[in-house]
Amino acid sequence: MKEKIIIFDTTLRDGEQSPGASMNIAEKVRVASQLEKLGVDVIEAGFPAASEGDFTAVSQIAEKLKKTEVAGLARTSKHDIDKAWGAVQRAAKPRIHTFIATSDIHMKYKLNMDREQVIKTAIEAVKYSKSLTENVEFSAEDGSRSDRDFLCKVFEAAIESGATTVNLPDTVGYAIPHEFYELVKYVKTNTPNINKAILSVHCHNDLGLATSNTLAAVYAGARQVEVTINGIGERAGNTSLEEVVMALNTRPNYFQAQTRIDTRQIFPASRLVSLVTGIMVQPNKAIVGANAFAHEAGIHQDGMLKNPMTYEIMRPETVGISSSKLVLGKHSGRHALRSHLKDIGYDLSDEEINIVFTKFKELADKKKYVTDEDLEALITEGILRTEDYYHLEYLHVTCGTTVLPMASIKLSINGRSVKDAGYGNGPIDATFNTISKLTSSNAELLRFAISALTGGTDAQGEVTVKLAENGLTALGKGSDPDIVTASAKAFINGLNRLEYLKTHPITTTSEML
Ligand code: KIV
Ligand code: ZN
Repeated sequence: MKEKIIIFDTTLRDGEQSPGASMNIAEKVRVASQLEKLGVDVIEAGFPAASEGDFTAVSQIAEKLKKTEVAGLARTSKHDIDKAWGAVQRAAKPRIHTFIATSDIHMKYKLNMDREQVIKTAIEAVKYSKSLTENVEFSAEDGSRSDRDFLCKVFEAAIESGATTVNLPDTVGYAIPHEFYELVKYVKTNTPNINKAILSVHCHNDLGLATSNTLAAVYAGARQVEVTINGIGERAGNTSLEEVVMALNTRPNYFQAQTRIDTRQIFPASRLVSLVTGIMVQPNKAIVGANAFAHEAGIHQDGMLKNPMTYEIMRPETVGISSSKLVLGKHSGRHALRSHLKDIGYDLSDEEINIVFTKFKELADKKKYVTDEDLEALITEGILRTEDYYHLEYLHVTCGTTVLPMASIKLSINGRSVKDAGYGNGPIDATFNTISKLTSSNAELLRFAISALTGGTDAQGEVTVKLAENGLTALGKGSDPDIVTASAKAFINGLNRLEYLKTHPITTTSEML
């Protein structure tokens, strides 16, 4: 019998701690729904004490999901635990996840506590959480750098106080696989009541070893793994869900373990997280990178044609990458669009389909074939967005070798139309200068990235910008077959998000930890 490995996804909490990755509430709810479809067992939806925004996002996710456990993170204070419980209590299966650091360096310099105080605080926090819910997880932050015997003592006390899961984090990504394997074994052997709880691991990727350490821990007996989609997370990120799941899936006999994940939902989840966070996936990223299944060498291609298993240990379809890229054209109807979107992982409401269908028809007029990537861009633009305060009405640009680049733009600002023209070093600079003038914005452009969504000269350009104004930062995205229009859309989307943040401030989780 294969052991069941619990997949605890923390994309919406630790993943959100990736620099620049803050998502709005609607985006978090959509990611959570995709994670449920993917079949993760637990979703850590956020850190409710961090901000009102986080509290609301966790509450909405708790109410929306039907099957998946929803966890809220809390430090060991009563205030944090009350907030976490307040946010998750309406979930079908709520969980409180409380943590305190156990390494000497953290206890001395961060907590200013000795070992006895840390154990006492952990016990009180777990007992208080247990008075609210049966389902309590306790984490020993910086566990991999903690004194082993002390770590076992803290886990023993936490389990004794009611923790149903104890989590061993490699908070700073310092562990080495064999050493981490031994640590997990040690904890299993030297924590007397360990069999009364699930032993979990949570690895960071500072040395590029998060997946290896997590798999070593599974081999040593850990039964819950804490992971994120695309491996996003604090600093170099967390263990990547897709890597761990596909390692277990591809080598079932080696690990004698299995998960509940529907692997065909991995790629749609990866695309969605990349779209809403603006964090692109590196092309050579295992499992979900653009090159993960691309065979360049002739000798490999020849082998693949004879038998794909010569050079491919997994099939792209298994992770939801469709080999036949079905394209839609201007004659495709609403029904075909809906059913194709469903196939690629988007189960949209009637109202959402109407929005995407209108945009799809506009695009199909400009471009012969509309691909999956185009459709995803339409969904991001049409649905996954904040209310528009600024809206582009028209854009006219002149540029070339003999003219000064100039942009004439009409915007509607909260329903009122304004227009102006301006110059710049190139057409995009002229466009951004004019938009800034029209909106009286001082937003600084921190990042500008442009990529082609597909191959071919009629491909849509996808632009991502990162803007900063008065201490707030926001991502903006836009796509269009015309790259200057795509840039204008991205800039305006970024300004709309900054506007939204002014009225819905987000305290990022990292500010609190
Ligand atoms: O990395 C870490 O230690 C954490 C804990 C809060 C589990 O994220
Ligand atoms: Zn972490």
